[in-house]
Amino acid sequence: MGSPEDQAFGLLSEYANGFMVSQVLFAACDLGVFDLLAQAPEPLGAAAVAARLGTSGHGTELLLDACASLRLLAVETQAGQAAYANTALSAAYLVSASPTSQLDMLRYLGRTTYLCWAHLAEAVRQGRNQYGQAFGVPSGDLFAAVYRSEGERLRFMRALQDVWRVHGRRLMATFDLSTFPVICDLGGCSGALARECLSLYPGCQVTVFDLPEVVLAAKTHFSPPEGGPIGFLAGDFFKDPLPEADLYILARVLHDWTDQACSQLLARVHQACRAGGGVLVVESLLDSDGRGPLPTQLYSLNMLVQTEGRERTPAQYHALLAAAGFRDIQDGGTRGLYDAILARK
Ligand SMILES: C[S@@+](CC[C@H](N)C(=O)[O-])C[C@H]1O[C@@H](n2cnc3c(N)ncnc32)[C@H](O)[C@@H]1O
Repeated sequence: MGSPEDQAFGLLSEYANGFMVSQVLFAACDLGVFDLLAQAPEPLGAAAVAARLGTSGHGTELLLDACASLRLLAVETQAGQAAYANTALSAAYLVSASPTSQLDMLRYLGRTTYLCWAHLAEAVRQGRNQYGQAFGVPSGDLFAAVYRSEGERLRFMRALQDVWRVHGRRLMATFDLSTFPVICDLGGCSGALARECLSLYPGCQVTVFDLPEVVLAAKTHFSPPEGGPIGFLAGDFFKDPLPEADLYILARVLHDWTDQACSQLLARVHQACRAGGGVLVVESLLDSDGRGPLPTQLYSLNMLVQTEGRERTPAQYHALLAAAGFRDIQDGGTRGLYDAILARK
C-alpha cells in the first residue's frame, strides 16, 4: 500500500488513461485480433498475428501485450516466445461468431459515441447533444442526426441488439408477461428484445413499432426471429396512431427524451392501451438520490452528448407513469445494468 498521496495519484492516472484502455479494446476488435485467435488451432505469436492481419510487427506486439495485461488475452511463453490466445471474456464477447458477441456495440462506441464524448465539456456548457460538433449535422431532429446515413443507421441498429443477447431474456422474465396476449414494442428497432419476448412467451403476438426507415432496414438486413413471426409497423410514436395492445414495451426509449416528451408519449400509450393492459419500461436506473451507480451516471452523460434525455431514478419514472394515468407501478428490482418497471392502465 502506498501513501495516501500515491494512492490519489494512482487513481488520477487510472482515470486520465481510461480512454487508452477503451482504445486498446476498440483497436483490437477493429483489427480482428480476437476473431483471428478464435480461428487459430493454437496460440499465436505476435509475428504470426501481424502477418495474418497485415499489421506492423512492433505495433501488434504492443497491442497484444496491452490486451494481455487487460485480461483480454492470455499469454504463454513457448521457447522464449510469447504466444497469445483468447480468454473466456474475449471468447464470449469479442468474437463475431459468439452468440453473445458485443462487437457491434464496441464498433459503435468507438466510431460514434467516442467522437461525441470528445465534446463532453461543450455538451455540459450548452446542455445539448454534440452531433453538430462531432459530425457537422444539425441536431434539431434527434433521430435524423442519429440516422444521418444508411450505414450509420445500420451500425446503430446492430449495436443496440448486442446487449439484449446477454440481458434480454432475464429482463423479459422479470415479470410474467404471459397474461398480455398482444404486445407492442414501441421503438423496438431491429426486434432484438421482441425476439426474446416471443421466445419466452410463444403464445403472445408481438409487434415492433418504429420509424419507417428503421422498419425497412429491420426487414431487409436482420434475420427473422426464432420461435414465431414478429410483426413490424412503421410510424412516428409522437404523431401516428399507436396500435392497440395489452402491453407496450418502452426499452431505452424514454431515456432519449425530455420529461415533457416522455409525458406526451406515455399519455398516447395510456390512451391506446386496452383496459387492464400495461406498459413495461426498461431502462438503466439511477439510485434514488441520483448519485450512483457510476455506469448509469455515465450513461446519463452519454444521453447528454447523444440524445435529448437522461437516465432517471425509479421515482422519476413512477412520477412520469402516474402523471400519464398508469397505476399499480411495480419495480422489477433486479438492479442489473438494466431493470424493468411494470405499470397498469
Ligand atoms: C435507443 S433506441 C432503443 C431501441 C430498442 N428499444 C432497444 O432497447 O434496443 C430508440 C428507438 O426509438 C426509435 N424511435 C425514435 N424516435 C421514434 C419515433 N418518433 N417513432 C417511433 N420510433 C422512434 C428509434 O428508431 C430506436 O429504434
